[in-house]
Amino acid sequence: MTGGDGLWITLEGGDGAGKTTQSDLLESWLRDAGRTVLRTREPGGSEVGQLIRDIVLHHRGDIAPRAEALLYAADRAHHVATVVGPALERGDIVIQDRYLDSSVAYQGAGRVLDAAEVRDLSLWATEGALPDLTVLLDLDPQIARTRLDAADKPFDRLEAEKLDFHVRVRAAFLALAVAEPARFLVVNAADTPDGIARTVRDRVTDLLAAR
Ligand code: TYD
Repeated sequence: MTGGDGLWITLEGGDGAGKTTQSDLLESWLRDAGRTVLRTREPGGSEVGQLIRDIVLHHRGDIAPRAEALLYAADRAHHVATVVGPALERGDIVIQDRYLDSSVAYQGAGRVLDAAEVRDLSLWATEGALPDLTVLLDLDPQIARTRLDAADKPFDRLEAEKLDFHVRVRAAFLALAVAEPARFLVVNAADTPDGIARTVRDRVTDLLAAR
C-alpha cells in the first residue's frame, strides 16, 4: 500500500470457503515468528463499520443496490483511514477478512451494478489503497453451501442468496485474480487446511524476504 513498512494481506472467497481458519493459521505462524499482527475485517472493522455491518447484513427487506454498494464503500473508507492505514504505518502485518474485491464480486457481478464502477467507487473511498497480497480461497459454491449448512448458523442476507448468485460471485473473483496475477494467490479451498496454510506461508515468506 502507501507508506509504512507493514504488509497488508486480504483474504477473499465465497461464504464457507474457510477464510477464518486460514486467517487464524496465518496469524499464529506470524506471531510465533515475532511479528505484530492486526486482524481485521470488512464490513465491520471499525466502530462506525460495526454499525454499517449491522445494516448491510441484518436489515430486513431490500437495500437498493447502489445504496448497498455505498454502505460497503463507506465502511471501507473509514476502515482504511482509521485502522488499516495507521497499522501499516506502524509496520504491522494486517490480515484482513474481505476487501474491495468482495464488493466487485458481490455488488458488481452478483447484483446488477457495473463491476468497474463498483471498483472505482472503492478506490475513490480509499484513495487507491490496494493490499500487497490477496488470497482467494476458491470453492465450488455447492460445497460451500454444504459446509455452511453443517455449521448450523443462521444465514445473513448474502449467504441466503440462491446458488446461481454464488456461482456468479465465484466467477467474478476468479476474473479479478486473472486480471491482477501479481496481487492474487488463488488456492483450492477444497484442499486440507494445512496444505492451504503452507501455500499461503510460502507466498508471505517471499513477500517478507523481498522487503
Ligand atoms: P463475512 O464477514 O465474511 O461473513 P461472516 O462473518 O458471516 O462469515 O462477510 C459478510 C458478507 O458481506 C458476505 O456474504 C459478503 C458480503 N460482502 C459484500 O457483499 N460486499 C463487500 O464489499 C463485503 C466486504 C462483504
